[in-house]
Amino acid sequence: MPSSDSQKPLDQLLEFLRFASISTNPANNDDTRRCADWVAAKLESVGLKAEVHPTPGHPVIVGRSAPQAGRRTVLIYGHYDVQPVDPIELWDAPPFEPVVKDGVVFARGAADNKGQILAHILGVGEALREDGDLPVNVIFLVEGEEEIGSPNLTPFLEKHRDELRCDLVAISDSEMADKGVPTFTYGLRGVAAMEVRVDGPAMDLHSGLFGGAVANPATTVARLVATLHDDKGHVQVEGFYDAVRPLEQWERDAWKSLPLNEAKLRELTGVSEGWGEAGYSPIEQTTGRPTAEVNGIGGGYQGPGSKTVLPAHAMAKLTFRLVPDQQPDAILDLVEKHFRKHCPPGVKLTIEKGHSGPPYLMDAQSPDGLAAQRALEQTFGGKTLCNRGGGSIPIVQAFKDILGVETMLLGLCLPDCRAHSPNENFPVENLHAGIRLNRALLRELAAVKG
Ligand code: BES
Ligand code: MN
Repeated sequence: MPSSDSQKPLDQLLEFLRFASISTNPANNDDTRRCADWVAAKLESVGLKAEVHPTPGHPVIVGRSAPQAGRRTVLIYGHYDVQPVDPIELWDAPPFEPVVKDGVVFARGAADNKGQILAHILGVGEALREDGDLPVNVIFLVEGEEEIGSPNLTPFLEKHRDELRCDLVAISDSEMADKGVPTFTYGLRGVAAMEVRVDGPAMDLHSGLFGGAVANPATTVARLVATLHDDKGHVQVEGFYDAVRPLEQWERDAWKSLPLNEAKLRELTGVSEGWGEAGYSPIEQTTGRPTAEVNGIGGGYQGPGSKTVLPAHAMAKLTFRLVPDQQPDAILDLVEKHFRKHCPPGVKLTIEKGHSGPPYLMDAQSPDGLAAQRALEQTFGGKTLCNRGGGSIPIVQAFKDILGVETMLLGLCLPDCRAHSPNENFPVENLHAGIRLNRALLRELAAVKG
């Protein structure tokens, strides 16, 4: 029986946000584990049956309503893990001590993804409490490794394919085009990660005694990274664009009505002007075109003052955002080949390929796509804008490949939510809107002939 969970939605979100469930850092494994238990207990408290499944990494939680024959089944996916908090000094308040200011919750995970997945859980809870029933069968799949590329979820889907059989997947883990603007996202970029390490001399050297005669690993990493783009922002890796599906004119035209333009980009990021692949608008550059990014780079002395040293090693962490029909493994192979070709002699280049997920694209005009758009309009009013997301949710294509179903992406966070950055935030209003959205969505999806 659903408990009459008397706690306000906001208080439940604040509780959820107090877990430092940073999936990439083993020091946070206990917090992550406790967070998983909290999610399972929350699913139970709203009237679902929940199980915590251990994996070689962080646990996966499955929650389900009592299945009823003849009903469609909607799988709602989300994640309870979050990105690291650094640079911690730029937060106005500690990242795992949520604060509410002017109706906005600030904490790591507020937007990505705790506020959004909790809205769906509470939406189902509200329906069970008020109506005693749901219009569809619901399965929640909430994982703890999305932010590290979902390494254990694909095998989990394969193993539990039968229990997870469903008609479609719904996810709120993307952005609205603007505050209050119903937004349906019909594609995501893929991602492929790589770490490059350059080792030079056996130890850090005196740069006066040896500099000039020994290759400098930091210079080498900088030079390698600099080969990735030409001065028009095109990626220079041979074959990088071979599988890219060119943007079609209808899509480029449709995207002109999306609010992200050059001025908005400057406002959101604080840069004095945009930089990107020539010939494409910011919306195209960030959602429809592939990119190469340096996420971290380092080597040598970084303390106060100066130290005349020639460092023994240097490194860079890279990710590539991919669009249909680029394949992560193929791209990482091309990049490796590119770096090996450009690496000077006298250093050792080590390339470690990391997590990855393919791009995703579906038909926004499909019956379920249109039902999702109606639910968004009932929730927010106005006409739904359709976009593609620039970020990645690595498991989404696997829902298609393994479960044979499409994914509806109904984002609830705002363009200035600062996901992955200091002062991540989520409006309380959107938590409530998400609860209403879930109810409208399940109603609309139930009416679609499966
Ligand atoms: N919620 C994001 C993905 C997203 C953001 C999709 C905005 C569409 C619009 C997700 O949690 C995320 O950040 N994913 C990571 C995955 C990666 C670490 C494997 C990403 O995109 O960097
Ligand atoms: Mn994220």
